[in-house]
Amino acid sequence: MKIGEKSNMVGLVLWCILLLIGFNIANALSYDYTASIECLASPQKPQYNGGVIQNPELNEGLKGWSTFGDAKIEHRTLGNNKFIVANSRVHPHDSVSQNLNLEKNKIYTFSAWIQVSKGRIPVSAVFKTQTGYILAGSIFAESSCWSMLKGGFTVDASGSAQLYFESNNTSVDIWVDSISLQPFTEKQWMSHQDQAIEKWYSTEPSQGKVDYSVPDAMLQFAKKNNVLVRGHNVFWDDPKYQQGWINSLSPADLSKATTDRINSIMSRYRGEVIGWDVVNENLHFNFFESKLGQNASAVFYNLAQKIDGTSTLFLNEYNTIENARDGDSTPAKYLQKLRDIKAFPGNGNLKLGIGLESHFSSAAPNLAYMRASIDTLAATNFPIWSQK
Ligand SMILES: *[C@@H]1O[C@H](CO)[C@@H](O)[C@H](O)[C@H]1NC(C)=O
Ligand SMILES: *[C@@H]1O[C@H](CO)[C@@H](O)[C@H](O)[C@H]1NC(C)=O
Ligand SMILES: *[C@@H]1O[C@H](CO)[C@@H](O)[C@H](O)[C@H]1NC(C)=O
Repeated sequence: MKIGEKSNMVGLVLWCILLLIGFNIANALSYDYTASIECLASPQKPQYNGGVIQNPELNEGLKGWSTFGDAKIEHRTLGNNKFIVANSRVHPHDSVSQNLNLEKNKIYTFSAWIQVSKGRIPVSAVFKTQTGYILAGSIFAESSCWSMLKGGFTVDASGSAQLYFESNNTSVDIWVDSISLQPFTEKQWMSHQDQAIEKWYSTEPSQGKVDYSVPDAMLQFAKKNNVLVRGHNVFWDDPKYQQGWINSLSPADLSKATTDRINSIMSRYRGEVIGWDVVNENLHFNFFESKLGQNASAVFYNLAQKIDGTSTLFLNEYNTIENARDGDSTPAKYLQKLRDIKAFPGNGNLKLGIGLESHFSSAAPNLAYMRASIDTLAATNFPIWSQK
């Protein structure tokens, strides 16, 4: 695993203890956020061990693969890497293909490593289905090194399909290796998209119906694999993420519901997690403050400390290091929030932690700004954890 991979876990966010190094483990099926934008001497392993692709690493000759259109295909070995080459191409679609069965209602992630025999040429991965052609992704492939094509798609009808590769420049050979096609059910997909498992809206979607079966299972998995776990999250200050029944509560009832929530989840997993995101994103949002008063978050941290005084109580925010232009969550505002929470009666000795979501956009990160921001936050001597 490389530094800089996005590790955005389902519900519980599983953390490696090293500062700024994310550690992502699989639950039943966890989304693989890794992507390479470098052209590498050797391709990486196929994601999800290839998923439903047969012979994804081409270690079994041409098994599972056939020609598409008028290309010729051959199995080649270079060093200890085996891959497939489509040459003598005449039409853009002339390449190598594999037949697969695709299911409607599944979400497919696709990846492959591509090289071309010369130049720097756009190559696409295409699925020919019963109803048409689906573009799974495109890449500029280069000669002498491997580029990762990462994409995905859904289909509107179940049935057989053919994966093939396409390049308008027919004078180049297309080399392919480490192919992966991994289907997700919508539920599996949503669970990683939302990171929703331990969140209030997923453990108590209707009032009083608390269900911890999913986080329980994940925690067991993490334990078995010696992975440290951080509880994410007790509350989320974004009004968008409040389940329906929360919105209709009076302040007094909401206050009681929040106390029940914090007691319930933190007593259940006390001693099992090394840290808690007590209030998520309370620099950008203030749902609980708007309903319960300016010190709502401070009160939650106070309660949290009483229930689980040994683990670190994190704030968690985005854009603090990744976007200098977001005025809501600058390091200075982060520091002020930490001070406010600590200043609340009884909070003087809180074991606070600084969580940084680190959702970098495709733009190159501003390393100098990041470094300076981390230095500033580190001056608090609170532990800093990054989701990256
Ligand atoms: C195809 O790619 C090769 C290698 O980069 C280049 O020399 C050639 O001009 C390209 N052909 C077309 C039609 O673009
Ligand atoms: C090939 O050319 C067509 C027509 O110009 C274009 O739509 C398509 O995107 C090109 N394919 C690739 C892989 O560049
Ligand atoms: C919390 O905030 C409310 C108003 O927002 C205030 O009345 C109350 O005194 C505060 N409590 C403490 C302990 O500061």
